[in-house]
Amino acid sequence: MSAGTSTIPEAAIAEAAGVLRASGLVAFPTETVYGLGANAEDAAAVGRVFAVKGRPPTHPLIVHIARADQLDDWAADVPEPARVLAERFWPGPLTLVLRRSPRIPDATTGGLETAAIRVPNHPVALALLSAFGGGVAAPSANRFGSVSPTTAAHVRAELGDAVDLVLDGGPCAVGVESTIVDVTGGEPTILRPGGVTREDLEAALDRPLAVPGSSSIRVPGQHPSHYAPRARVVLVAPDDVVVEAERAHDRGERVGVLLPPAVAGAGAEVKAHAVVAVPASTAAYAHRLYGFLREFDREGCDLVVASLPEEHGLGLAIANRLRRAAGPRPPA
Ligand code: TXA
Ligand code: MG
Repeated sequence: MSAGTSTIPEAAIAEAAGVLRASGLVAFPTETVYGLGANAEDAAAVGRVFAVKGRPPTHPLIVHIARADQLDDWAADVPEPARVLAERFWPGPLTLVLRRSPRIPDATTGGLETAAIRVPNHPVALALLSAFGGGVAAPSANRFGSVSPTTAAHVRAELGDAVDLVLDGGPCAVGVESTIVDVTGGEPTILRPGGVTREDLEAALDRPLAVPGSSSIRVPGQHPSHYAPRARVVLVAPDDVVVEAERAHDRGERVGVLLPPAVAGAGAEVKAHAVVAVPASTAAYAHRLYGFLREFDREGCDLVVASLPEEHGLGLAIANRLRRAAGPRPPA
């Protein structure tokens, strides 16, 4: 395999492929977040993934494959825009929803006639997929609804012994999940913003793309909680972050603050339990976002006060995750 696998010995990759063949679960790094992998064609193994995550069976999994030229083995029909996107962005943080091939069982697609497919851009993931040979169904390796893991330590802390093997490929470069594009209909649609930007997709397809449900900021009830830390998350305008945080601090709450770059740059002092200066670059912010949220939980914060970045480039995915983290929680 390529030199990029040097951090993980070939023997560990071979062992992981063996675990998948024996219906086991392997957590592995991708460029976005860590995945919890099972043989995509093995309904029983896929069932274990849902059980370990505590995920409803109606939330289908992404099938990871080694190379774009395998796409026709996994999709029943590959329209031209899908070929353009696969060619341009794979391996990379893009997932395509396509009509599924019969080899993908209902367990993996939640009974849908479509399947989500991607080629990840991480040497360890690609080595595993090549050694295994088949498709690996993998959601993010966290419990349903919580923050996705971006290091192997996050996976071990959250899932522990429920996983047969964890491959440690270091911190994930991108840090937020893949962009999901539905290419089954006439017009490609972004189902989830992520590591490939809307602008880059639009340039590749030479047309504008709709992003459902990403327009207005605070629409309670429309964004059921997901990607959420234990602490409550409150979103306010950038200029209100300090006031909002200090008000909660004065009420006696343990407050974590994601201080917007403009406010941090102005040298603001904040009375709060834990304060993080948000990186000015959205790539750096995406890379660290989930780590910040996990850190606030480790610090025992009750509340996280944040604002949304501007919604272009990776800012669209970051804003989507923050909104979902701030969404209404199911009753405890
Ligand atoms: O970056 C990523 O995409 C990571 C890494 C591990 O690849 N995976 C990931 O998986 O985020 P997960 O399971 O956490 O999110 C997959 C999303 C879910 O929201 C699911 O509903 C959607 O993909 N999905 C899967 N199959 C679908 C389908 N056939 N149609 C529409 N959405 C689908
Ligand atoms: Mg997930």
